[in-house]
Amino acid sequence: MGFATDCIHAGQEPDPSTGAIITPLFQTSTYVQEGLGRHKGYEYARTQNPTRRALEKNLAALEGGTDAYCYASGMAATHAVLSLLEAGQRVVVSDNVYGGTHRLFTKVLSRCGLQFAFLEASDAAALDARAGDFAMLWIETPTNPLMKICDIAALAEVARKRGAILAVDNTFLSPFLQRPLALGADIVVHSTTKFLNGHSDSVGGVAVVRSPGHAEALRFYQNAAGAILSPFDAWLVLRGTKTLALRMPRHEENGRKVAEFLRGQEKVRKVYWPGFPDHPGHDLQRRQASGFGSMITFDLGGLEAARRLLDAVRLCALAESLGGIETLISHPATMTHAGYTQAERDALGITDGLVRISVGCEDAEDLLADLRRALDGV
Ligand SMILES: Cc1ncc(COP(=O)(O)O)c(C=O)c1O
Repeated sequence: MGFATDCIHAGQEPDPSTGAIITPLFQTSTYVQEGLGRHKGYEYARTQNPTRRALEKNLAALEGGTDAYCYASGMAATHAVLSLLEAGQRVVVSDNVYGGTHRLFTKVLSRCGLQFAFLEASDAAALDARAGDFAMLWIETPTNPLMKICDIAALAEVARKRGAILAVDNTFLSPFLQRPLALGADIVVHSTTKFLNGHSDSVGGVAVVRSPGHAEALRFYQNAAGAILSPFDAWLVLRGTKTLALRMPRHEENGRKVAEFLRGQEKVRKVYWPGFPDHPGHDLQRRQASGFGSMITFDLGGLEAARRLLDAVRLCALAESLGGIETLISHPATMTHAGYTQAERDALGITDGLVRISVGCEDAEDLLADLRRALDGV
């Protein structure tokens, strides 16, 4: 089936008891058993839930995986994937990842004996030379918030040589634009909170896998640790993915208009967006994805200028998160990347003047007017 058809149908059958076209919301904690050891395959709702399972099948199809497991948040999905490792093992991480991922790795999982090395990953050969041995390579591409592009196929090879897992956080692009498993990645993670749900009304996460061993381990962890996606959130995300193939082209079109507009503004020092032909990762992005996305970071030169813009926007909502149908604008240094120390942010170039925008599906002219007016006061 085509991608849009899978968005609408994969994992979902009309409800056998009523014919309801929409997968019911199985808001239940348990299932009545016919007799001891005799049941319909459902025992307890942490372990199995039909609404959650429908979403998992849907997301596995969209990412081209064999299976998927959904968790209470993107961070819970990330934690689940790291549970595949054992104390003493080493993880190499692309160096500007979501601040919450950095915080989980450096402040929580490092206490459990995992070792983390954060390396520049947009040059796969350089990473190969510097990385040493590792059990997992964790990347985001485009990176967050500096929009560097990492070569998924080349990094899959770097991981494969070491018998390591390549995990890709595909939250920024969604499977509509980029399918890492087809490029050789082993696991794809999403914060379903973002483009997959798309409507800013649910928090969740998913890990999509290719190997039956990883599937079994993630299913086991889901039940054992219990950070499951709730039935209602699963139902909302299922509704969200139905329109993913309709929303993404609009995000993409508006993203381009906003990026080009920002680049023409005197007060904007630099715009980070891989769709510009002079972006160092532009050609790679053209090869490995079918678009550039609607995540844009731009530099206003300092905290005060960023503050003035963020205080002045009206239609663009000053908010954490991304991938909603509404345009969201944020300040990485104090919001999404506050989990990094000032020194770490300085080393990465996440300066106080950076502003990140997740361009939504409004009329582009209205977004440009809002940004133009706000920039006037900067
Ligand atoms: C790229 C990326 N990955 C993971 C997460 C974490 O997801 P959640 O907020 O659903 O836990 C986020 C959250 O902003 C994100 O931007």
